[in-house]
Amino acid sequence: MSLRDAGARHLGIVGAGKLGTTVARAALDVGYDVVISGSGSPDRIELIVDVLAPGARVMTTAEVSERSDVVILAVPAHRFRELPRDLFAGKILIDAMNYWEPIDGVIEEFSKAPRGTSVLVQAWFSSARVVKSFNQLGYHDIEEDRRLSGEPERTALAVAGDDVAAVATVMQLVDDLGFDAIDVGSLASGVALQPDGLVFGVALTANELSGLLWDEAKRA
Ligand SMILES: NC(=O)c1ccc[n+]([C@@H]2O[C@H](COP(=O)([O-])OP(=O)(O)OC[C@H]3O[C@@H](n4cnc5c(N)ncnc54)[C@H](OP(=O)(O)O)[C@@H]3O)[C@@H](O)[C@H]2O)c1
Repeated sequence: MSLRDAGARHLGIVGAGKLGTTVARAALDVGYDVVISGSGSPDRIELIVDVLAPGARVMTTAEVSERSDVVILAVPAHRFRELPRDLFAGKILIDAMNYWEPIDGVIEEFSKAPRGTSVLVQAWFSSARVVKSFNQLGYHDIEEDRRLSGEPERTALAVAGDDVAAVATVMQLVDDLGFDAIDVGSLASGVALQPDGLVFGVALTANELSGLLWDEAKRA
């Protein structure tokens, strides 16, 4: 499906797995220039990117960061600290990761993070502007639920962050890629988007998503 062309925009993606290549495809589909990296040298992911996200340019993670103002981090949660702390200095870093015990192992620091794992990501990449989004739905939903703005029953994706301008930029990206963007407040509020969180793993419209979070806020 091809959505409206979003014009000349650029997106960096770190992690060329299921989520990273799905988001890459969605961004390419609306005219984004996409650069993407994996954990090793670029030639290791050239074929997979060629097949799953043709048109995305493969490079090292350092190059992805250098060339992008906005970077999606789509690597397994237990691996983000492999990346240098200052790698994304000044960049908008979209934390799309979920802590998932079968994949990540038992990490109490993540499973018991009362303000959510993105706060830990922000603490590690302290010079980046971390925004949580794209973690809430499965990659197949992101593939299949994309719709033009204004279409009925368009699925919503929540965006959480402490940097107002960064949140606005990510909301534009979410909309370009085919979803209604809902600002759910601070980075710590993103705990509702994580596994076991209130709106995790369910495709909801903007009204449904906002309604659930509003009801929860009233109860608290
Ligand atoms: N799958 C989903 O539906 C979904 C939905 C929402 C959120 N998420 C979250 O998104 C993240 C990725 O999930 P996934 O399903 O896409 O995983 P995946 O298919 O296993 O892909 C992970 C990718 O990250 C790369 N990677 C690992 N360490 C890296 C590093 N230090 N630098 C650069 N790249 C690195 C891996 O490269 P190598 O193979 O070279 O190690 C691989 O390409 C996870 O945190 C997951 O919880 C997934």
